[in-house]
Amino acid sequence: MVNEAPRFTVGNFGKALASPLYSFFLVLNRGDRRLATIQATRWKRLFWSRSRTIQEMETLRPHCCWQPEKVDFVLDCVRRTEGLDGDIVELGCYQGGGTLLMAEALRGMDSSRTIWSFDSFEGFPEVLNEDRTENGECHATEERFRDTSARAVRETMRFFGVDGYVRIVEGDFVDTVPETLAGTDRTFSLVIIDCDVYAGAKFCLAYFVPKVTPGGIIVVDDYGTPGELDSSTYPGVRKAVDEYLDGDTGRLVHGARSMWYMTKE
Ligand SMILES: C[S@@+](CC[C@H](N)C(=O)[O-])C[C@H]1O[C@@H](n2cnc3c(N)ncnc32)[C@H](O)[C@@H]1O
Repeated sequence: MVNEAPRFTVGNFGKALASPLYSFFLVLNRGDRRLATIQATRWKRLFWSRSRTIQEMETLRPHCCWQPEKVDFVLDCVRRTEGLDGDIVELGCYQGGGTLLMAEALRGMDSSRTIWSFDSFEGFPEVLNEDRTENGECHATEERFRDTSARAVRETMRFFGVDGYVRIVEGDFVDTVPETLAGTDRTFSLVIIDCDVYAGAKFCLAYFVPKVTPGGIIVVDDYGTPGELDSSTYPGVRKAVDEYLDGDTGRLVHGARSMWYMTKE
């Protein structure tokens, strides 16, 4: 039997270094695992693993909360609004899964629009009684949507080559939206409200609907599934929309699953 010593190859060297590299970036980024993975992959890619790009791209694709039907619907809205004046805004971006898909669609169309993505990146700043279901449950819990960071989302966009299409704004959007857009006459062709809670949805409708260009689309996620509206998981969102429409619910059209939309006249 021949005892062969492990051969030195660039691939083996890469594998042996991958873990320390990841640990290094984990410390550097104060435990932000997503950021550490992206940065370690970027370095690995620079020096020795160009051929594994497709696999890495799949691994590093951020989680998107939308089911495939919602993704199809949102991407259809992105395409339908392409010829209109105004940017895209997403209120509630989490790990940037939806942002990335929309940005890739913009890149595919060689669009001149920008996606403004707002999030606290620390979960829900404010949850009210309106967000409780009839039996007192609240799905917008404190620990949800905290496993992300603005830096990781920015790095993700850079990694996928769409950072030129995206602006990430960190903080409670009730404060950051007016701060960011103050003094500009920016309009929007597509508004995606995906913040799960009453206070956020109420603010977004009041602030953004007047800034939407005619023909533009306002999408609201988590309004409820047709036929089961009364048992909506996020009653606060439904309440905010109903209050905004003030009885004119005919303006609201079903998009996909619990996602609904209005078209600006
Ligand atoms: C369902 S997630 C968004 C999912 C995302 N659109 C996607 O594509 O996966 C809801 C997000 O809304 C954010 N959020 C809710 N209220 C907010 C507020 N007032 N300011 C900033 N972010 C808020 C939460 O931090 C959370 O990340």
